Amino acid sequence: MKFDSSGVAAVKARADIVEIVRRYVDLRSVGGRLVGACPFHQETKGSFNVHPERGYFHCFGCQASGDVIDFYCRINGLEFREGLERLAAEVGVRLDSGRPDPRAGEKKRLRQACLDMHALADAFFRRCLASPGGQAAREYLERRGIAPDVAAKFGLGYSPPGWQTLEDFLKTKGFSPAQAATAGLLTKREDGRTWDRFRDRLIFPIRDVSGTVVAFGGRIMGEGDPKYLNSADSPIYRKGDHLYALCDARPSMAKSRRAILTEGYVDVITLHQFGYGDAVGVLGTALTPEQVKRLLGFCATVDLVFDGDGAGRKAALRSAEMLLATGAACRVTLLPEGEDVDSLLQTRGKEAFEACLGGADEGLRYCFRAVSAMARKEQIAWAEGFLGKVGDANLRAAYAPRVAAALGLSEAELRGALADSVVRRQAAVPPSQRREARTGGLVLSQRESWIVTFAARCPEYVSALEALGTREFLAGTDARTMWDRLAALGDGDPRLVLEDAELAFVLEARRLEELSEDSRRELFDEISDLLRAARRESARKELMESMRRARAVGDTGEEMRLFAELNALLGRGDE
Ligand code: UTP
Ligand code: MN
Repeated sequence: MKFDSSGVAAVKARADIVEIVRRYVDLRSVGGRLVGACPFHQETKGSFNVHPERGYFHCFGCQASGDVIDFYCRINGLEFREGLERLAAEVGVRLDSGRPDPRAGEKKRLRQACLDMHALADAFFRRCLASPGGQAAREYLERRGIAPDVAAKFGLGYSPPGWQTLEDFLKTKGFSPAQAATAGLLTKREDGRTWDRFRDRLIFPIRDVSGTVVAFGGRIMGEGDPKYLNSADSPIYRKGDHLYALCDARPSMAKSRRAILTEGYVDVITLHQFGYGDAVGVLGTALTPEQVKRLLGFCATVDLVFDGDGAGRKAALRSAEMLLATGAACRVTLLPEGEDVDSLLQTRGKEAFEACLGGADEGLRYCFRAVSAMARKEQIAWAEGFLGKVGDANLRAAYAPRVAAALGLSEAELRGALADSVVRRQAAVPPSQRREARTGGLVLSQRESWIVTFAARCPEYVSALEALGTREFLAGTDARTMWDRLAALGDGDPRLVLEDAELAFVLEARRLEELSEDSRRELFDEISDLLRAARRESARKELMESMRRARAVGDTGEEMRLFAELNALLGRGDE
């Protein structure tokens, strides 16, 4: 789906860049500009500039720059499209999609109904906690040491013991049980009967980054199984996409540039109660790439705090690897066995917790310690797996010597072991293509593999892609050679022009499910967007570099001229 430029322009006109940046950055006024510490790299001096009249920011330290939408996406870890949609919703702009999706209206109504039901249920649960029927739940909170103001801040609630209390309440608001079941609020049996999913549980609302309730967790207040019950996936919630309390932790994280990441609802709440406003939780799943992306929009360092048992140590290793692979810094704190964050803080206080944090291992050191107990072969497999996950070549080059030294391998040995895994990693294609293509010895980046796979499957689009500058975009030798051959091939027989590895790749790609006309078109649009964005990005980099040079020699006129050009470029006239 694409948006017309008037929607983008309307959002830019309506969203106040200063107000939005101020949520994360302390800005002070310096001669008509606003200056602060850049939220996108570690610094204390003010390299970060906001130009309110131009609706534009840039950082002389790390070169981050853009308009209000760019800022919003980047700080929230969102793709352009999602960021635009959210910001539009925030400032009340309706976006018209250029190419109408026949089901878009219906999908939107369904999502809205789910959001409305969640808002209603949220208020209902909170009322129940405050009512006479919520006595036992309030006592439970007191026993757990959760202060009433903290409970209120996290919107805790109570779901009454009846089988259909919420169901009946939602009916009075015009929502059918079927709708409530779709929203994940009711459980539906095979015979079609429904009941309150969270009946007789303490309720923890799960909010997205902007504070909208999208799901609930419910804790049984005595013994019972499962201890926690969470919302099923729904049109507005996918398990593993959200971090508990991210919206509450956001302001504090933006200041500290650090997050404490731990495992449970109560642990996160207790951390906040004890003054750790930058604590968030993963909630019953292993840390996911989606969560990492959202988290790293706000902070550069993560303190992982996990239980000291086997499961906790394993989760810490996986999470540390994942964060390190993206270039984020992390530390690992394992709690004494039998304790969790909540019990430690409640029984032994902040000092005891600080002592644990103080003994944290730097992330990579923690990984080495964790794998040191493994057999040699497993260690090498771990090293391959870990380095294979590091997408950025420079970063990989920085980690490799440390990994080699820690495992007692020469770098050459490690490189040998790695050659394979790198090819394997790069063979992965984006989820939009579902199945994996094998590159069989070709070295293609993910994006290259994605584009070439598409070209192999849909040759009718090759010349259109060629015209959009695909060749220039494909930086790798293998990708470019293969592109040239595919472009020359037309609908000829691939066996005549392609090398073995290339042929294997093309045949593999063509074995994938047949694509409908619409999906072909959609994939083509996605790739076109990518190519256009890449062109704009390289033009932007060039302009920023020229601006830096002009500034260095004090040529203000030239700097202003380039600045105007940059603004025009970011005007997104072509979207
Ligand atoms: P824990 O079992 O460590 O519970 O699960 P906890 O957070 O310490 O909870 P309390 O202190 O006993 O109340 C950690 C997290 O894993 C998820 C929940 O998010 C929980 O907070 N979980 C756990 C579930 O989703 N379902 C379960 O049955 C158990
Ligand atoms: Mn606990």
